[in-house]
Amino acid sequence: MTVKKNDSEPENRLLTVRNLAVSFATDDGTAKAADSVSFHIEKGENVGLVGESGCGKSVTALSILRLIPSPPGRIDADGIWFDGQDILSMPSKQLQDIRGRAISMIFQEPLSALSPLHRIGRQMMETILLHRKMPAKAAWQFAEQWLGKVGIPDAAERMYAYPFQLSGGMQQRIMIAMALMLAPQLIIADEPTTALDVTTQAQVFDLIRAMKAEDTSMLLITHDMGVVWEMCERIIVMYASRIVETGSREDIFSNPKHPYTIGLLNAIPKLTGERGKLNDIPGQVPSPFDYPRGCHFEKRCPFSMEKCVHEQPPFYDCGPGHRAACFLLADNAG
Ligand SMILES: Nc1ncnc2c1ncn2[C@@H]1O[C@H](COP(=O)(O)OP(=O)(O)OP(=O)(O)O)[C@@H](O)[C@H]1O
Ligand code: SF4
Ligand SMILES: [Mg+2]
Repeated sequence: MTVKKNDSEPENRLLTVRNLAVSFATDDGTAKAADSVSFHIEKGENVGLVGESGCGKSVTALSILRLIPSPPGRIDADGIWFDGQDILSMPSKQLQDIRGRAISMIFQEPLSALSPLHRIGRQMMETILLHRKMPAKAAWQFAEQWLGKVGIPDAAERMYAYPFQLSGGMQQRIMIAMALMLAPQLIIADEPTTALDVTTQAQVFDLIRAMKAEDTSMLLITHDMGVVWEMCERIIVMYASRIVETGSREDIFSNPKHPYTIGLLNAIPKLTGERGKLNDIPGQVPSPFDYPRGCHFEKRCPFSMEKCVHEQPPFYDCGPGHRAACFLLADNAG
């Protein structure tokens, strides 16, 4: 199998996902987890992917590394190009090399990435040796240095610990060290701090920011709009399997165009008259087995029109790099 190359990609482009669809065949029918998903990430760019639970954020991220279990999952796309090479036509061996070295993932649950059976030092060393040619002793020392860098006290001693002997915050730091130590080109962080207390969450984000090389890109998945404001220059908003709006951080926070994005921003707790009141968007994300025919947000949208029930809204340009899929924008589209 030859890996398709895409020479027409802009020079600064690291990742392009074009028309991605992910579905799962189940006893209850086919769940459409992602549909018509297209986006890109530039070299060195930090992009936030936000949306409520079940909107397809994780399956989109897992597709980038072809990690959707098949069966029951199925990925279809016009292309997933990483550094000009098509991930979808890549032989498994080449993909294995990209996983963990060029693209690394930080998950919500560190124990899903760390083996409970092996000492931390051995796991880190084996990851290094899988991707770098160096003597085992040098790899051990390199791993130990990284434990120190991510703020693990007594790093030399901790190298001999098993994951269960460490706190959740420490496990998360180790996962970050493992994700960053091979200087990846892209970090995919999927809700990396949800399981941690607020103070540790802030420390983990500070750590990712400090340790990440400047030209490393990041796709950060979160429910937390505050976190994307802190960490990301560009934001993709997903709702019920589709992207509904994308723009710069300023576009999304100061000039949101899609009613769903506006709803998400209104749901950020505000210290107003009613302290910390969370204005949740009324209603629920529809089932992936039964998405509405037209706009997927139609049943919750305060501006829904007849057309929204029957037709899927296309994307309208709202400014440079700012697009949203809502019929309300049709009149202003140039
Ligand atoms: N293995 C699977 N089999 C069947 N359906 C699945 C599978 N994995 C994901 N899905 C469905 O695909 C949809 C998208 O899931 P996904 O995990 O991407 O959501 P998410 O946006 O990451 O949500 P969360 O914020 O809760 O992590 C959901 O409806 C989910 O139930
Ligand atoms: S297309 Fe219609 S239902 Fe969908 S967000 Fe816009 S106004 Fe609301
Ligand atoms: Mg998820």
